Amino acid sequence: MIVCSCNVLSDQDVRSAVEAERTHSISQVYGCLGCSAQCGRCARTIRRIMDESLGSTHAASCNGCARSLQP
Ligand code: FES
Repeated sequence: MIVCSCNVLSDQDVRSAVEAERTHSISQVYGCLGCSAQCGRCARTIRRIMDESLGSTHAASCNGCARSLQP
């Protein structure tokens, strides 16, 4: 699905950039994909995709979290 019509970026493009580069800012995502923000309407959607991707990557790689939640 296209999430940025100005730069023709898909949700998969954003996920790939986040997972490959561990980007933590929207501007880093644009830069990683070789573009920059134009109108900015996609910023909230890109942020949500970043949060989902980073959250799932962190949960998959964090061995200590499950133990710390146990009584
Ligand atoms: S829709 Fe992404 S910069 Fe315009």
